[in-house]
Amino acid sequence: MYKVKVSIVGASGYTGGELLRLLLFHPFVEVKQVTSESYTGKFVHKVHPNLRKTTQMKFVSASELETCDLVFLCLPHNSSQNKIDHYKSLAPKIIDLSADFRLNDSSEYEKWYGHKHAHPELLKEFVYGIPELYREEMKTANYISSAGCNATASILGLYPLFKAGLVEEDRTVIEVKAGSSEGGNKVNDGSHHPERSGVVRSYMPTKHRHTAEMHQELSFGKNIHIHFSATAIDIVRGLLATCHVFLKNDLQEKEIWKVYRDAYGSEPFIRIVKENDGIYRYPEPKLLSGTNYCDIGFKKDEFSNRLVVVSAIDNLMKGAAGQALQAFNIMYGFDERAGLEFPGLHPI
Ligand SMILES: NC(=O)c1ccc[n+]([C@@H]2O[C@H](COP(=O)([O-])OP(=O)(O)OC[C@H]3O[C@@H](n4cnc5c(N)ncnc54)[C@H](OP(=O)(O)O)[C@@H]3O)[C@@H](O)[C@H]2O)c1
Repeated sequence: MYKVKVSIVGASGYTGGELLRLLLFHPFVEVKQVTSESYTGKFVHKVHPNLRKTTQMKFVSASELETCDLVFLCLPHNSSQNKIDHYKSLAPKIIDLSADFRLNDSSEYEKWYGHKHAHPELLKEFVYGIPELYREEMKTANYISSAGCNATASILGLYPLFKAGLVEEDRTVIEVKAGSSEGGNKVNDGSHHPERSGVVRSYMPTKHRHTAEMHQELSFGKNIHIHFSATAIDIVRGLLATCHVFLKNDLQEKEIWKVYRDAYGSEPFIRIVKENDGIYRYPEPKLLSGTNYCDIGFKKDEFSNRLVVVSAIDNLMKGAAGQALQAFNIMYGFDERAGLEFPGLHPI
C-alpha cells in the first residue's frame, strides 16, 4: 500500500517531536524529512531521547526540504505565514500547528497578535483544525490550521451549549491551568527551574491570544463575550479549562447530559466524565498524558443558573500533534484513530 510521504518542519520542538513519535508508528505514513536549524545533521534522538532505537533519522535544514505529499509546520507564531508560498511549492497539503492561519478575519491578527498578517488572502483556504467541528470540511481540505491548545479544550467544552443557544452570550468566564510544555522548548526567565517549579502563576489574566479563537468558534453570529485567564501550574503536560457559563433556562443536569451526548456520543476522542463518587469524578489532565482524548465534565450550581464545565486535554496531543494527526487521517480518508489509540497510563 502507498504510504503518504510527510515532512515535519521545526521537528526539534515539542510539538514536532510529539508528531514524529506518532507518525513513526502510523501504518500509512512514511516520514521523509524532519527539519531543525539548530540540530542540522544530528540524530533525532539527540533531541528527542524517547525516540532512541525508534528511528535513525537525522535533522536536515529547512533549505534541504524536498517535495512530499504533506508538510506539518511546527514553527513559532509568525514564521509559517512569511514562507507559506515556499511550503505550498513543496507539498499540495499543509497542516500548520501555529496560530498563523487560525483566524478568519485578518484584522484579528492586528488586535490579538499585534501585527498585520502577511497573507490575509490565504486565511479562507485554511480549515480550522478541530475535527469535531470541521470534519466534513477536512475531508476535502488541502490546508488545515491546527487549533490552539487552550482554545481546543475551552471550545470543545462549550461548543454544544453555545450551538444550542443555551447559555447567556455576554458572561462566560474561562480559567485554564496549564503545564510548562505549553511554552515550547525555548528557555526564558520564567522557565528556569527555580522560578517555574511549584508555581501557581497567573501569567495571562487577560488578553490571551487564544481568546480570539474561542470567540470565532463559539459566537454562531452572535455578539458573545468570553473572559479568559490562564495560570501556569507545576505540571509538564496537560491543561484543565474550568468554564463558567450561565444558563438562560433552568435546565436539569439530565437535560444537559443529553445535549453533550447528542453532540459527542459518537466522537472517538471525546469522553463525558462525570461520576458521583471516587477521586476521578471530573476530568483530570494527568490521566490524559500522551493520549488524544478530551475529557469533559460539568456540574450545575444548585444555588444559581451557573454551569461549571471542566475540560481536560494533553496540550501536546489533543492540543497539538494528536489533533493534527486526527485531521490528517480525516484528510486522507484513513480511520480517524490511526496512530492515536494509546489509552494513557494509570497510575502515572
Ligand atoms: N507547546 C504546545 O503545547 C503547543 C500546542 C498547540 C500549538 N502550539 C504551537 O505549535 C508551534 C510549535 O510549538 P512548540 O511548542 O513545538 O515550540 P518549540 O518547542 O519552541 O519548537 C519550535 C521549533 O521551531 C524551530 N524554529 C524555527 N524558526 C524559529 C524561530 N524563529 N524561533 C524559534 N524557533 C524556531 C525551532 O527549531 P530549530 O531552532 O531547531 O530549527 C524549534 O525547535 C507554535 O506555533 C505553538 O504556538 C504549541
